[in-house]
Amino acid sequence: MSTASVLERYSQGAKAREAELCCPVDYDSSLLELLPREIVERDYGCGDPSRYVRPGDTVLDLGAGGGKICYMAAQLVGDGGRVIGVDMNDDMLDLARRHQAAMAEKLGGDRVDFRKGYIQDLALSLTETEAWLAERPVKTSADLSALHAFQDAQRRDNPMIPDQSVDLVVSNCVLNLVSERDRQQMIREIHRVLKPMGRVAISDIVADEAVPAALKADPTLWSGCISGAFHEKGFADAFVDAGFVGVSYDKWEATPWQVVDGIEFRSVTLLATRPDTVECLDYGHAVIYRGPFSEVTDDEGHMFPRGERMAVCERTFRLLMQGPYRDDFIGISPQEPGQPRPWCAPAGTRRPAAQTKGGEHALEGDSGGCC
Ligand SMILES: C[S@@+](CC[C@H](N)C(=O)[O-])C[C@H]1O[C@@H](n2cnc3c(N)ncnc32)[C@H](O)[C@@H]1O
Repeated sequence: MSTASVLERYSQGAKAREAELCCPVDYDSSLLELLPREIVERDYGCGDPSRYVRPGDTVLDLGAGGGKICYMAAQLVGDGGRVIGVDMNDDMLDLARRHQAAMAEKLGGDRVDFRKGYIQDLALSLTETEAWLAERPVKTSADLSALHAFQDAQRRDNPMIPDQSVDLVVSNCVLNLVSERDRQQMIREIHRVLKPMGRVAISDIVADEAVPAALKADPTLWSGCISGAFHEKGFADAFVDAGFVGVSYDKWEATPWQVVDGIEFRSVTLLATRPDTVECLDYGHAVIYRGPFSEVTDDEGHMFPRGERMAVCERTFRLLMQGPYRDDFIGISPQEPGQPRPWCAPAGTRRPAAQTKGGEHALEGDSGGCC
């Protein structure tokens, strides 16, 4: 599906409310109070990823539209945080930016900025590209090669969103609009910009069955956030394949937003974490899976039978204690941390009780003195 139909639809939606694009969402009304009415009215989201924002976060909102989620997040990050909204549409960027100064005053600081770019190419600023093109319009294939060389240099030397610079990537009903050809790259870009242990909270539309090509080719259904929906399994798998862990559906609307040709399209919110890339070192940590399942396996292949004291490296210990699984495990630190040795516990390795006896037990979200 072409970007042109998406651009046209959201240009109109930026200028006047498009009722057909509005999916009912239960936002935190206390965060909406500060926002201008035209931004709240031109809400084309399908969930509320702002509820995953923490104080101090650097938040990136993909397909920020009129800036609603950005301005909500700005109230939650506080003085120490900031929010960046990316969108490709000038009319949406105009709507978001024309309230920036007034919002900065209300918030007590200019914590939000909006950048023009494609969410599948977050290193490239379209503002920089357009400034370059204004001086050097493309007329020949040699001009085109020069443009590509400029863009490559921009991505390398002046990235719009640098590597590992973001704590939380949010998005509200946008990923389904990106062409299927670009989706793998889009998810790789989300991984690239996140800091280690950075989080993802994405509200989007999923389909319960494969969407036929004829529906995908319909520009109204595609730009209306329907026929570009990911399949409900494929959406989660795409994040696992890109190296995310703790991939889960936190919110799942029981009632479909739309049903077309018997296919249910519903709003969900997917959470995921980019794991740390540090070397696996064994200090003698163990974890115990609480249950209620008899056994679980994480996205990196570690296996945890309920109630068993399992050996983990320090990196996995931190991921289980602080990351998305923190309510599911009891962490046990070694009483006397030994000399670390490079080692990542093979699946199913037990840690004998004698090796962790007397060690500190970390419960629900505390780090067990590991770091
Ligand atoms: C359904 S609206 C959602 C807007 C906003 N997130 C909200 O909650 O109201 C989709 C937005 O994503 C933008 N968009 C779609 N595809 C994009 C892409 N590939 N890169 C950047 N922005 C994109 C559109 O311009 C539009 O503003």
